[in-house]
Formats: sequence, structure tokens, C-alpha cells
Amino acid sequence: MDTLTITRPDDWHLHLRNGAALDNTVSDAARNFARAMVMPNLAPPLVNTDQASNYREQILAARPQGSAWQPLMTLYLTDNTTAQDVDAAVDSSIIYGIKYYPAGATTNSASGVTDIKKTYKVLEHMQTLGMPLQIHGEVTDPNIDIFDREAVFIDRLLTPLAKRFPELKIILEHVTTQEAVTFVIESSPSIAATITPQHLLFNRNHLLVGGIRPHLYCLPVLKRDIHQQALIKAATSGNTKFFLGTDSAPHSQTNKESACGCAGCYSHHAAIELYAEAFDQADALNMLEGFASHFGADYYGLPRNTETITLSQKAWQTPNICQLGGEVLTPLHAGQQLRWQVIEEEQ
Ligand code: NCD
Ligand code: ZN
Repeated sequence: MDTLTITRPDDWHLHLRNGAALDNTVSDAARNFARAMVMPNLAPPLVNTDQASNYREQILAARPQGSAWQPLMTLYLTDNTTAQDVDAAVDSSIIYGIKYYPAGATTNSASGVTDIKKTYKVLEHMQTLGMPLQIHGEVTDPNIDIFDREAVFIDRLLTPLAKRFPELKIILEHVTTQEAVTFVIESSPSIAATITPQHLLFNRNHLLVGGIRPHLYCLPVLKRDIHQQALIKAATSGNTKFFLGTDSAPHSQTNKESACGCAGCYSHHAAIELYAEAFDQADALNMLEGFASHFGADYYGLPRNTETITLSQKAWQTPNICQLGGEVLTPLHAGQQLRWQVIEEEQ
């Protein structure tokens, strides 16, 4: 097989940042994808519909000319989010989910939820209205080892939460472990998960053996090989609960290559190509379209895209650096070969 044509994909988890970064992040995101679920962890975070609407306008203004790409907005859940905030989000028709960050779990999560119980009323209301909850699933307990934080979150918080709100649509974002895969498979149809390209292509050996690779550092952190294998199996299985969410999260090269480097990998220089690489390695390219272009839209109750993109088996080298506003960043798999490349559609 030399070419692969699939329905134009969507990204169900993306960080675009704001200000000067938008010109770069939006044009990359809009190149091959139709829509993106835009994360609200700006500084300060987007906690209400007015803020999300304002941010959406900035994003739309940064779209390349003629682009039909659409940002799907989210709100940032805090201890103070109200049922009225959820009503306004639903009424706006521009908000597609509310993101739960445990306070302190990751980049720009200081205003996150301090105690899940404080959000029960709001979650109840979201369940009633069908507003999805997108979860960063890691505990922040300093006594829990960083490699165990997702599995402990599932035991301590997510399992009871899913029981308490059985109809609430919950997306466990950027899953990284066998435990998460099992949890999602075994739970009700209201629970789904996104998977990033870095967690499919790499494990913690890539991060730490032979020197620390700050550009592979993201949260939840890469886990051991058996977990990577579980994620590959889930993504390529055709199970509709697993779909594409890059978690592409730009940080400048200086902020990553530091004594205290930021968490986040940038992947929209080659997002669909990175997934194609992972699926090809698993000999499962025929499963890419469902994962990348169908299952997420179906889960969120949105129409599937009607356009297509075509990938060609044509080795190419990814860039060493990308622009990020006035700065530069080192993208995922920088300067390395990829086997598949998107080619222009024949007119
Ligand atoms: C994300 C970021 O930089 O905004 N970082 C990351 O490591 N994934 C935040 C997040 O999704 O956790
Ligand atoms: Zn993220």
C-alpha cells in the first residue's frame, strides 16, 4: 500500500496557547485536521463562556485564509464553577466539554479542583444536560510515585465518580497505562479516552536512557513498555471508546531545556503522520481512520467530516525546530524520519 485515504481527522485534545503563539499553533492544527477540542488552561484559565468566546474569536482570527477548520471550546472546572456556568456553556453552542484538572497536576493547573466533592452539584447538572467532563486523571498526593498517579487516580477518584454519575459523559484524557485501558474498556459506554502520539510511539526508556530528553517530557509522564503496548493495542483495536487527542502542548525550547523543564510535547508539525507511524509499526493502518476520524465525533454526537486526506508512503524528515510566536520550540520526534506524509488532494 503506497497511499492511504481517510476521512479528514479531528483532534479531541489540543493546547493552542494565546497571543503571538496562535499564528503558529492554529495554522499547524488546521493543516490536516477539521476540528480541535481546545483546552482551557491558559494563564489565567478560561472559567466562563465569555472568556471562552473571546478566546475563540482570537483563534478564528489566526486561521489561515480560506480555512474551514473549527475550534471546539472547553471550560476549566474550578471549585467555584456553578450550575449557571454550565447553563451558559450549553446555551452558547460553542462549548463542548468542561475540563477537570486536579489542582497542581500539570501545566497551568493551579486553579484546578482541590476536592472533587466540591464539584458534585455541577457534575450532576452536567450529567442532566449531557455536557461532557474531560479529565486529567492523575492524583497530586506527594506520597504517590509519579509513575503510579494515573492508576491511583482511577482507583481513588474515577471509579467512585463513574458510579456516582453513571450517565455523565467522561473522557479520560491522554491515557498512559494498562490500568486506564482496562478501566475504559470495562466501563459503561459513557466513558471514553484519548491517546496521544507520544504515548503510542515512546516509553520511559526513550525519555531517560542515554540522557534525559526534555522534549519527551509530558504529563502524564511516559510509562514502561508494557503500558505503551497496551495503548497501541487499544488504539488499533477498533474499540470506539479510544480516539485521537494529540495533547500537543507547545513550550519554548528554553522553557523545556531548563533545570526545571516544562511538561508538554508539541506534535502538530506532523500529528497525523506520527499516528500513522505508530499504526504502521503495529501493522494496523487499516484501523487509523476509525481512531482518527470517526470515533471521537461519534462519541461527542457531532457529524463525521466528509472531506478526506491522503497519506503517501514517502519518507521525510520532521523539522528540528518550529516557530512559537517570537520564540522557537523543538517538536516531538524532531529531525527524525517518518514513513508517511500527507499529500495534496488531486483536484
Ligand atoms: C499540558 C500543557 O502544557 O498545557 N502539558 C502536558 O504535559 N500534557 C497540560 C496537560 O494536558 O497536562
Ligand atoms: Zn493536555
